Amino acid sequence: MVKESTIRLMTRLANEHQAVNLSQGFTDESAIYEMVWGAISASLGGTDEGIARLEGTTLKDVLDQNGGNMDHLLKMKLKDVLKSLQNSKDAYNQYCYPFGLVDLRNAIADYTNRFRGFRPDPETEITVVLGATEGLFTSLRAICNPGDELIVMQPYHEMYPAQAEILGLEAKYITLLENKEKGIWELDLAELEGTIGSKTKVLILNTPHNPTGKVFTRDEMNAIADICKKHDIIVITDEIYEHILYDGREHVCMSAIDGMKDRTFVVNAISKTGNATGWRVGWIISPPEYTTRVRALHDTMVIQSPTPLQKGVVNLLGLDDGFYKSMPDAYARKREVLTESLRNIGFKVTPPEGAYYLFADYTDVPALKGMSPMDAATFLIKEVGVATVPGDNFYAIGNSGDSYLRFAFCRSIESLEEAARRFAKLK
Ligand SMILES: Cc1ncc(COP(=O)(O)O)c(C=O)c1O
Repeated sequence: MVKESTIRLMTRLANEHQAVNLSQGFTDESAIYEMVWGAISASLGGTDEGIARLEGTTLKDVLDQNGGNMDHLLKMKLKDVLKSLQNSKDAYNQYCYPFGLVDLRNAIADYTNRFRGFRPDPETEITVVLGATEGLFTSLRAICNPGDELIVMQPYHEMYPAQAEILGLEAKYITLLENKEKGIWELDLAELEGTIGSKTKVLILNTPHNPTGKVFTRDEMNAIADICKKHDIIVITDEIYEHILYDGREHVCMSAIDGMKDRTFVVNAISKTGNATGWRVGWIISPPEYTTRVRALHDTMVIQSPTPLQKGVVNLLGLDDGFYKSMPDAYARKREVLTESLRNIGFKVTPPEGAYYLFADYTDVPALKGMSPMDAATFLIKEVGVATVPGDNFYAIGNSGDSYLRFAFCRSIESLEEAARRFAKLK
């Protein structure tokens, strides 16, 4: 039976021990305002007309609406001011099409075209879902039947094998290996091809990769695509960190590779780009012949993603290129702070090429010598006050994960500096 997520467990332990939480991948900084406003204006405005009215409302309008009495207005609570602006008609706090608002599916199509160079059809290829987690689950069920096999690269996000288990699928593992001299994580293409059997339906590919930070190069993506075409494998890509890239790396979308659109499910979400992991808005871009099945599964399980939040995401996806291009800048600084502080106490760190995790080898950290990853993580929470995730949580076979801990550096710079101060005590 599937067990509780270790990553979520570490967050609870972090809270219990007042540790700086570098375990779970969510920020402690504000969500993107345009997106938040889009949701607020949809929820209060209620209809397109109401949203347009709210967008244009000035404080003078509010004053007039509240009897023109400035003294009275200045004493009003913001909550009551907003209530006075709420529309009595409503469409945006209600059910929408289960597969997503037209506005949002159009925005996803435009956004995909802008960043990935192809425009999926909002009517036949895009389904709005509850984050990448549901996107993965629904995609897997739409493609596979119980007993089918899928290939997962370890280290992996823990939901891939857990979802496979719930669905009665057999996960086969291949292992990314850290090449410390070259400072990269390597994929063995022969291992990938050799793992494909007669029941293999799907490869899950996460780039930029959690937990290693690997960004698959165009050559690697082409080589993976060739193998998938040769063996009739469908690829589900998890692209949730697509904009978080360092040192000039590029994100390559499998769907944009020649001959792959018909055999790729793109799974994406705003959880990371919108700083809003609690919103639960994501999407699947599926080949049209699968979309009816995808939508039926999604509707049956959860009906839909929250309507006002979908309106907020329309705003996020419409933000200009500058917003997306500058996204890695703050993370690059955080990556430096954490890398330096970990190296200072003996961790071996291959700097991530993308995403916001460090998967660091603690073999040479004196205070953690000889400990299992869980013991090392528990020691760091209880004795140092920093929460991490044990490396073996990201592996199903072999013992390659036994010398690693994962650190998320998506927290505020102040939180990371506090973690660095606490780590310095181990020197
Ligand atoms: C690689 C990867 N995929 C998916 C998720 C979960 O995404 P969501 O919150 O959109 O379900 C995470 C969250 O950390 C992740 O790292």
